[in-house]
This record gives sequence, structure tokens and C-alpha cells, in this order.
Amino acid sequence: MSGDAKNRAKRTELAAAKSRVDLSEVQPGLSRAQALAGLRSAGEATRLRILALLAAGELNVKDLTQILGQSQPRISRHLKLMAEAGLIRRFREGSWVFFRLADSGAEATLAHAIVASLDPTDLTLARDRARASAVQKARAEAAQAYFDAHASEWDRIRALHVTEREVEAAIDAALGHGRFTLLVDLGTGTGRILELFAPRANRALGFDLNRAMLAYARMKLERAGLFQAQVRHGDLHNVPLPDGAADAVVLHQVLHFLDDPAAAVAEAARLLAPGGRLLVVDFAPHELEFLREQSAHRRLGFARDQLGRLFENAGLKLERFRELKPAPSDGKLTVSLWLGLKPALAAKKRKAGTKVEAAA
Ligand SMILES: C[S@@+](CC[C@H](N)C(=O)[O-])C[C@H]1O[C@@H](n2cnc3c(N)ncnc32)[C@H](O)[C@@H]1O
Repeated sequence: MSGDAKNRAKRTELAAAKSRVDLSEVQPGLSRAQALAGLRSAGEATRLRILALLAAGELNVKDLTQILGQSQPRISRHLKLMAEAGLIRRFREGSWVFFRLADSGAEATLAHAIVASLDPTDLTLARDRARASAVQKARAEAAQAYFDAHASEWDRIRALHVTEREVEAAIDAALGHGRFTLLVDLGTGTGRILELFAPRANRALGFDLNRAMLAYARMKLERAGLFQAQVRHGDLHNVPLPDGAADAVVLHQVLHFLDDPAAAVAEAARLLAPGGRLLVVDFAPHELEFLREQSAHRRLGFARDQLGRLFENAGLKLERFRELKPAPSDGKLTVSLWLGLKPALAAKKRKAGTKVEAAA
């Protein structure tokens, strides 16, 4: 099994485990009619495979036709039936429609239980996971080719969106004025966030998959004498740092390139120490479809609650949200900021039944 396929298998298992722990505790049961509708909608070979695939991440219809080798009308029909029964959720972004396993409501318990009951070593499911990884890898390579071509002019491209000075002032205000022990910038690109925050960090680390971006960032940081800031080649889904290592993590203009933003937010949350903060900066929902073709964007922005939910699932409290709207005349994009707090340990104890006030 390739590394990607293993990661996918791990995510499927985690999703199943999560359902066993959380969902069954908090959801009221399904009515018999709901249970029957859900079971009927899942009771078909391809649909079971789709449920297993969606447990590991969001996919669109085109992805699923490639992975399963079936026609679009057939896949669409399977998806429609399962969405109607509440086992999966559908959401539109521009001309693309994505699907994911239900993550709230009583039907989510059933959807996760069905996936959890499947044998993870089943050959067909393993092949599906491998194909899903291949589809995602091809897309990631296309995105990386774009970054290769644009590394040196990236700073200029960033300025095409809402004024960079305004965004950076908002980032500064959101992260507060204290010092950082370790600030981690995921998808650091040309290292602008490191450049901004290294002066008040004991250590600042940036991770990126793109070597051209990293070479440029390294050069810039060295020239500025910011030796406490370093960049590393690495995948933001699997950062080589221990749990709780950082007191601040930043994802600046990165999530819209990713297949699975939830996995990135979960990894960022893992890196945070209790009391640490995650800052996500990204576009608000928009309709600039050409950014998919020309700039390798995977998502056309994010709504406040869309990321709010990802934060919550990753154990973070959405502490602050801010929108930076451009002047109506300048045709630029709105940039949003989400600040999440990893609750102090006392909060966890309270959840487990101990009467200790949450420190956050
Ligand atoms: C739009 S650039 C933003 C760079 C920087 N955060 C900024 O705002 O200037 C997105 C960056 O994310 C990086 N990236 C995309 N997927 C990644 C992954 N899985 N792991 C690490 N970096 C990734 C790209 O290589 C690219 O440098």
C-alpha cells in the first residue's frame, strides 16, 4: 500500500472510531423509518464503496467516476439516494458539487457505523482507496506545477487580492502582541508569515511541499537576518513535530488548494499546545471559477461556519472571525480570518465528568 493510501485508510479508521466514541454518545436514536431509509439507501455494492471513500475525505462526482469507473449518471443516482436518506451531505461550490459523510444528526451515527462495520482489508475497498489517492495525487501535482511556475512572482500574485497591508494588520491583531515559543506556518510558500512573526518568536518554522517556494523563502529570511526562522520541506498533513509543540499555527491562503481542508485543520490542532491558537486566513465564498483552471484552486472560498465546524471537529473553539471586504468598486476578493483556541487541559477533564472550570 502506498503512503497516501495508508493515510487514507488511517483517516477511514479514525472516522469510524470517532463515530464509536462521540456520535453515539450525543445523538438521539433514529426513528425506525429513518433507519430503514438509511439502510436501504446504503444497501448496494457501489454505495457501500462510496460511503467508505467519503469517510476518508470529501470528493466530487468527477472524482468518484474516476475512482469507481462508473458513469456519471449512475454515480449521481447513488449519491442522490444516500443524500436523501441523510447518510451523506452535499454542498455546492461554484460549478462543483462535493459530498462528504454526514457528520451531525442522527443519520451520521448510522453512516459511520456502516463504514466502521466494513472490513478495512477488503480488497475492493483497498483498491478504491488506492485509486482515490492516485486521483488526489494527480491533482496535487498539477497544483505543485502551478506553484513551481509562480514561486518568484508569488508575492505579487498575493497582492491581487484584498490589500495585503490590511490583511497583515488583521493577522497581527488576531495573533496578539505576545511572544511565541514556536510559531508554525503550514504551506509557508515564500515565507511571508515567518518574515512577519519571526521577530517575536523564539523559533518559527514553515513547512511547504514546493521546493521552489522554499528556496525563495530561505533566501528572503536569510537576507533579513531572521535566523530563528527556518523552512522545511514537508507535507502539512503530516508535520514532523510532536503533539502540542506549537503555541501558534498559521494557515494563510492554503486551505483553498487542498482536497481535504478538515485533515489540515486537524493536523494544525494536533500541533497546538493547550491555550495555543490556530489562525486560518482564506477567501470568503466567491464565484471566480477561473481560479480553478488558472490558479489550481480547489475550493472557491469558505463560509464562516464551514471552517467553524472543522475547528469544532478538531477540538478548537472559534474565538474570533473577521471579514476584510474590499471596496465594491475594486473587484477584489474578500479575505476572512478565523482564530481558533485549543482549550486548556481543564476543559477536557470537565468533559470527562470532573468539575473543573474550563480555563479557556
Ligand atoms: C497560495 S500559497 C500560500 C503561501 C503562503 N502561506 C502565503 O500566503 O504567502 C499555498 C502554498 O501551500 C503549499 N502547499 C499546498 N499543499 C501543501 C501540502 N500538502 N503541504 C505543504 N504545503 C502545501 C504550496 O506549495 C504553496 O506554497
